[in-house]
Amino acid sequence: MQNVFREDLFAGDHVFVAGGSSGVGLGVARRFGQRGANVSLLGRDEEKLRDAAQELEEDVGCRVEYHSADVRDYGRLEDVFEEAARTVGGLDVLVCAAAGNFPAFASELSANAFGSVVDIDLKGTFNTCRAAYDHFPSSGGSIVAISAPQSEQPMPMQSHAGAAKAGVDNLVRNLALEWGNDGIRANAIQPGPVEDTEGLRRLLPDDETRDRLAEALPSGRFVRADEIGSLCLYLSSPLAESITGAVIPVDGGQMTVGSGALVEVLRDRED
Ligand code: COA
Repeated sequence: MQNVFREDLFAGDHVFVAGGSSGVGLGVARRFGQRGANVSLLGRDEEKLRDAAQELEEDVGCRVEYHSADVRDYGRLEDVFEEAARTVGGLDVLVCAAAGNFPAFASELSANAFGSVVDIDLKGTFNTCRAAYDHFPSSGGSIVAISAPQSEQPMPMQSHAGAAKAGVDNLVRNLALEWGNDGIRANAIQPGPVEDTEGLRRLLPDDETRDRLAEALPSGRFVRADEIGSLCLYLSSPLAESITGAVIPVDGGQMTVGSGALVEVLRDRED
């Protein structure tokens, strides 16, 4: 699997991963680093960023810079992209993987809780893309936003994230339309449940319910973060020059079974 993509596919390219200090974002950063990219990571927690950068430098051997910022803070993002462009160079790939989520029924969500997730997931994705825009070279680049199946499929306790991610899908299509003339392509990936992530631990805290959900997927297992990374590589490679405005699931078939299995697992947990 590792050898499908050429080793130097992204050699010398600047790949910026917002939300890159853990989970899906870190898995994506690792895949680009393995293919020669210089990686910039952005996250809120300085310590997690430092650990992630060290892990990538030691395991992968790529160049890694990191910046702490909250994607809700547009002014800070402008400064970060200026600094990243100055130190590493213009952007070739931007991955928007920063997200906030927790399971809660709509009837139990405060207005502020709903707004917090929309602010991080949707407005944060816009803020990141907008602040990055001026740092793509005239030849353009690739944006990949991390969405979720709940952008299309209702899921219990996910009204906030579902609404926010539906907005992300729509935003990506609009950016593809407007920024196509600048040579910038914009796509989104909808990861199903990704193993060993904060998101999955929050949704299903115990092993038994996690196993039951994995078994209910057509693939019989959770998605790995590197598999999301592999699609990011493809979408950002010359093979995908005609792919823009696409929203693609990497979900082990979760979309085909719907959220029924999750409803059952969560209902049993409530009992
Ligand atoms: N159930 C219901 N409401 C919750 C909640 C939960 N499990 N967790 C947080 N909230 C509410 C808070 O009570 C608050 O609302 P209130 O002011 O009406 O009380 C609101 O959400 C904002 O919480 P706060 O902790 O102040 O926001 P924050 O900006 O510090 O954190 C979150 C943002 C809530 C998204 C937080 O979960 C987070 O930082 N997540 C990042 C990591 C993550 O989610 N990883 C998984 C990604 S898939």
